[in-house]
Amino acid sequence: MRGEGPLQVAVVGAGAMGGDHVARLARRIHGAQVAAVVEPDPSRQEAAIARAPGALGFPRLEDAIEGVGLDAVLIASPGPAHEAALLAALTAGLAILCEKPMAPDADTARRIVEAERQLREAPCTQVGFMRRFDVEYGSLHDLIASGSAGNLLLLHCVHRNARAFPGFTEEMMITDAVVHELDILPWLAGSPIRSVEVKRGRRNSLSPPDLGDPLLVLVELESGVLGDVEMNMGAQFGYQVTTEAVLESGVARIGQPAGLELWHQGRAAIAEHQGFITRFRAAYDREVQAWVDAAHQGAIGGPSAWDGYLAALACEAGVQALRSGGAVPVRLPERPPFYA
Ligand SMILES: NC(=O)c1ccc[n+]([C@@H]2O[C@H](COP(=O)([O-])OP(=O)(O)OC[C@H]3O[C@@H](n4cnc5c(N)ncnc54)[C@H](O)[C@@H]3O)[C@@H](O)[C@H]2O)c1
Repeated sequence: MRGEGPLQVAVVGAGAMGGDHVARLARRIHGAQVAAVVEPDPSRQEAAIARAPGALGFPRLEDAIEGVGLDAVLIASPGPAHEAALLAALTAGLAILCEKPMAPDADTARRIVEAERQLREAPCTQVGFMRRFDVEYGSLHDLIASGSAGNLLLLHCVHRNARAFPGFTEEMMITDAVVHELDILPWLAGSPIRSVEVKRGRRNSLSPPDLGDPLLVLVELESGVLGDVEMNMGAQFGYQVTTEAVLESGVARIGQPAGLELWHQGRAAIAEHQGFITRFRAAYDREVQAWVDAAHQGAIGGPSAWDGYLAALACEAGVQALRSGGAVPVRLPERPPFYA
């Protein structure tokens, strides 16, 4: 357990997600403060520091570890940069919150869990699957677990983005986007993933030519429950994440629009989210607060590196399915007692 005072946190990567986490830690999270911003882009580093007065800027995490008395690190650099930051933080004994995907592929994810087990006495890496902290997802999870509407049969998921970010590849539609569903479906259903299949259909001509957008992803769970995911990178109108659960004696749906409903001049309209920052704002707050509270006790407060590894294995099957067609089995290793 660490001593008194706020957790001294370095935020690594100050882009869309990292910049938002800096503001969150500085303004809404109790028991932590941003001591360092690690960002190679000078203008982004400066903008992030402006949101967290007193924080120092560094281009590399190693420099921040040497230069500031850190307790913790929140990693929000791009997925391929996570392993190096995780190894530095594991070696330095820091508490860790790592944005999803923990790693861009399953081999890297396996190396990370092995390193954590070698370097630390207990799990210290929480992975940023914030949907587990979303109130609606929590209600759906509890309804399914209660059995009050019978057994779960099907999960229909919609994951729509207005537009793909520049440089977003078709593989990233699985490893960076569907990875959320590959974590949340087994969590909702209480059953691990057995196989993943990916279908390309008619392409949206408004999406970049190298994306088979939208994709339809079919996920089979060990319990026999089937999940389908519409992964849509070119919905144009905004950001929409919904899930409908079909149970034996009822149907439950989550994913409310952004707010205001307006009936005006013969039309009814509802405001919709334009991105993840607003759709999951409260979930990110709860996720980061749970992490900070747990870090004060030397623990994690959410999904572990093992969960990040399981999601990476499911993504690997999804990427293979994208290339080969057909359902690709997910081979899940036994959970080590360290992650019990
Ligand atoms: N949980 C969610 O809902 C959610 C949403 C969006 C993004 N993410 C994740 O957050 C991470 C960042 O995504 P983003 O959208 O903010 O990307 P981004 O491109 O907007 O920002 C990434 C930042 O990291 C910096 N960077 C690159 N290499 C670095 C390194 N080695 N050390 C420190 N900084 C480095 C870049 O200069 C950039 O400013 C990714 O893992 C992404 O998948 C999660």
